[in-house]
Amino acid sequence: MPNQKMAIAIDGPAASGKSSTAKAVAKTLGFHHVDSGSLYRAATTARARAGGEPSTWTEQSVLDAAAIVSLAPTEFGFKPLLDGHEVESEMRSEAVTGNVSLVAKMPRVRDWVNSIVRQAGSEYDVVVDGRDIGTVVFPNASLKVFLTADPAERARRRLLERSGGEPSAADIDEETKKILLRDEMDAKQSGQAPDAILIDTTSLAQVEQIEKIVELGREATG
Ligand code: CDP
Repeated sequence: MPNQKMAIAIDGPAASGKSSTAKAVAKTLGFHHVDSGSLYRAATTARARAGGEPSTWTEQSVLDAAAIVSLAPTEFGFKPLLDGHEVESEMRSEAVTGNVSLVAKMPRVRDWVNSIVRQAGSEYDVVVDGRDIGTVVFPNASLKVFLTADPAERARRRLLERSGGEPSAADIDEETKKILLRDEMDAKQSGQAPDAILIDTTSLAQVEQIEKIVELGREATG
């Protein structure tokens, strides 16, 4: 098909480094990066602004709130805006991170995210990261990678990214619990496609995992 675009899917559990890796891979290959998790986070942020206890949020109220979400182009991909404004730090806050799995379970919210992601994939060659990209969103992706790492190492990296300094053992323990809870809440929507290549990054430097996927990407799409 002349307008068939290429997709590289990078899935994996919470804080496994999918987004930063996907962004770097997209930049190197000249693809566009789409962070599907950022759309679930944007919908959660929009709904949180509307108020009310998260346990009372209905699917329709999330979809209504998400009407103010749009995707803006960035240098190597897209980022969500709320009412035209940047929401990066709000979207990554503890409050949003703690409620995003609840929102991501809603089937029509998943349809909403998937149609935005597929639209981007119909216009550009994309590297998309998430939980179900290789299984549901782009089952025909040219390359599927499943990134994983030891939970405590994922926690350490997430804390390092947030604060810039080496975290204490107690902080790592606490963050590991949150990460494992989110993995559990996301389990139903997450999966490794049978044809995905599993990369355990526990003892890999970020640059190594990026190089590995760029190499695989070149082989698969070149
Ligand atoms: O970066 P991190 O692993 O912390 O999470 P994320 O990729 O920003 O995704 C945030 C949340 O969105 C996840 O915990 C899932 O609940 C949801 N998500 C999903 O259900 N399906 C996707 N394809 C991507 C994210």
